Order: sequence, then structure tokens, then C-alpha cells
Amino acid sequence: MHIVHVVGARPNFMKAAPVIQALGTHDQLRQTLVHTGQHYDFNMSDVFFQQLGMAAPDVNLEVGSGSHAQQTSQIIARFESVVLDHKPDWVVVYGDVNSTVAAAMVCAKLLVPVAHVEAGLRSFDRTMPEEINRLLTDQISDLLFTPSEDGNHNLEKEGIAPEKVHLVGNVMIDTLVRLLPYARERTPDNTPDRYALVTLHRPSNVDDIAWLKSLFDMLLETSRDLPVLFPVHPRTRARMAEAGIEFSGGNSKLEILDPIPYIEFLALQNRAAVVITDSGGIQEETTYLGVPCLTVRENTERPITVSLGTNTLVGRDIQRLRTELEAVLAGKAKRGTAPPLWDGHAAERISLLLVQREAHFDATGNSRVRR
Ligand code: UD1
Repeated sequence: MHIVHVVGARPNFMKAAPVIQALGTHDQLRQTLVHTGQHYDFNMSDVFFQQLGMAAPDVNLEVGSGSHAQQTSQIIARFESVVLDHKPDWVVVYGDVNSTVAAAMVCAKLLVPVAHVEAGLRSFDRTMPEEINRLLTDQISDLLFTPSEDGNHNLEKEGIAPEKVHLVGNVMIDTLVRLLPYARERTPDNTPDRYALVTLHRPSNVDDIAWLKSLFDMLLETSRDLPVLFPVHPRTRARMAEAGIEFSGGNSKLEILDPIPYIEFLALQNRAAVVITDSGGIQEETTYLGVPCLTVRENTERPITVSLGTNTLVGRDIQRLRTELEAVLAGKAKRGTAPPLWDGHAAERISLLLVQREAHFDATGNSRVRR
């Protein structure tokens, strides 16, 4: 059995690592890792491979940056020949980035079965590029692995056959569970005792310059009382530079940093008084860690982090952000629990299901493709 995994952007390296490792324990199984090159900077890509203990990709499509159409179409064009060359039995795609939908599309047209890890999540906001990627990928996948029950409900409503869908838990938490002991030893030097940790990169926050400026002013204001650590995504840095937003905050304790490697960022999350973010994965990680998270978005495709976890949606409302932040810092943060199956073993469940499915195909002689 030959499995091709496709990754391309930062959040998905952490999802693929445990699946590759779990599948590696099965005999007679060959794996090929394809990196689309969507993220290409050392600190957005290579350092994650190093820290996660992943071998370098077998194939790099080197597509780089571009408009959504350019990036997606380049991946489609270049990935097609990889699939034709390698003739995989399964292709596994992760999350909701452009690389995910592009790879799934190639496989659907070549009648190669696709498994989607982190299926079923919906923000119900079609202005988000990721929502389009999620909807399309799930429609054309043959096996769909969901991290939480809401994912199964969403897929059922969209008419996906229930036998394709498996609730397995959260693979990102597998990686967190594995590396948290190392993170505890790797807090970056000069980390303050108490601080807020901030990440912002979604188009809804950083492409609207007036809004970005007001968020930045609010962070500056906060940093007069509480140190604020802000590792800046390249997209955010570019927008700030275009808008002429100054990074220095006078006497404030707002620290603008480069993107941070996985283990050190986990260490910072684990010790933060509060996290302010628009990332999907960070909403999940803070829920697992029990750290209060204020999400600067109107919606989330991960509602379980709000209903069971420590996440609060503050929308696009500076006053609400201020009020929620004050409440957290006054010790009134909501308390949460880790959702079911976020237990460090999601990838093992995925690998068993993939191997069993293959055995079933072999035994019955049925075509793998059910379109
Ligand atoms: C992508 C994903 C988003 C995910 C995020 C994590 C899509 C639609 N979006 O958004 O879901 O949360 O990754 O980071 O796939 N850049 C660099 N170096 C890099 C990568 C990007 O400088 O290594 C710059 C480029 O100028 C690029 C911009 O960042 O144009 C945005 O990168 P891109 O991959 O297009 O989208 P992200 O905003 O990172």
C-alpha cells in the first residue's frame, strides 16, 4: 500500500507528523511526503520539520506565494504529475489551506482515493477562503476524519455518506501531547512572568488597514500594564509595512517578534495569562492547555472550543476585546475541559481505519473509488 501525504502550510505540518508516524508502524506500507511549497520561509516551514522529527519532503512542488487562483492552479498542475508517477493507493490531505483543496481536486479527477484529516469543520462564513477549501475538499473526499462531533453533523447535513465519516479526535493535539514535555523546558529567554500572547494573520483582520491599526493601538494600550508578545506572520508584517504602521511602541512592553518555532511557541502558550488570536489551531491548543483565549473573529469553525473549552469569540469589537481581557486578567476567565478524543491518539485511529479500509478493498476486490 502506498500513501501520499500532502502538506504545504504551517498549521498542517503538526497534523501530518503524527499520522505519518502512526502509519509507519504498519508493515508493507510505503509513504511519500509532498510539500507544495505554499509556505517556504525557514521559520514558516523547515524549522517545523526539524522540531517535529519529520524527514524532509520527498517532493517539493515549490509553488510559493501568489493570488489564490495562481497558488491553487500551480499546485494542481504540478501535483498531477506526482500522482501519475507515484500511483498512490491513498492521498491524505490536511486542514483547510489552498494546498488541501488543490491536491484533493487532482485526486478526484484522477480517481485516486482521498482521505481528509480535520474534515467537517464549518464557520458558515463563505468570505473566508478556508471555508471554501473545507466545503470543496469534503465533497470530493472518500474518507473524512473529523476532530469533533459537530463535524459529523455538518457533513451529514451536506449529504456526505455517513460510512465515509469517522470521528477520530484531534491530530494537532497528538503533536501537542508529544511535545509539551519538551516545551516545558524550552521557554524562550527573557520571557516575562505574566504576559499576553498575540497572533493575527487572517485577511479579515490584517487586510483591513483601519481595523488592523485599531487592533494594534489596543495592543499598545494593553502593553502599558501587561507585556504583550506578538510573533508576526509574514502576511501581517507586509500589511503593516504597506500601511506605515510603526512597530515600536515607545515605553510600552509590546514585543514584535518573528514567527516562532513550534516548541517555543507551545511553551509561550502554556505559560500565557491570555492568548489573543485569529488562528484556528491556537483556539484548539489553548483549549487543551486550559489557557484563556480571546478570538478576534465573528465566527469559528471550531465551536467546541467555545462550548467546552476556554475560547471566547470577541468579534470585530475593540470594546468587547478590552472588556473580556479585563475579565480574564481579573481572574474571571472561563474554565474549560478538553473535548472527547483530544487525547493524543487520534493519528493511531486514523492509521487503523486507513489500513482496515485497504484490507477490505483487497479482500473484496471492490474498486477503491466510489464515485
Ligand atoms: C495560509 C492559510 C491559512 C493558514 C495560514 C497559516 C490558505 C487560504 N490560507 O494563510 O488558512 O491559517 O496559512 O499561516 O491557504 N509568506 C512568506 N513566507 C512564507 C509564507 C508566506 O513571506 O513562508 C507571505 C507571502 O507574502 C504570502 C503571504 O505571506 O503572500 C500569505 O501566505 P499564504 O500562504 O498565501 O497565506 P497565509 O496568510 O499564510
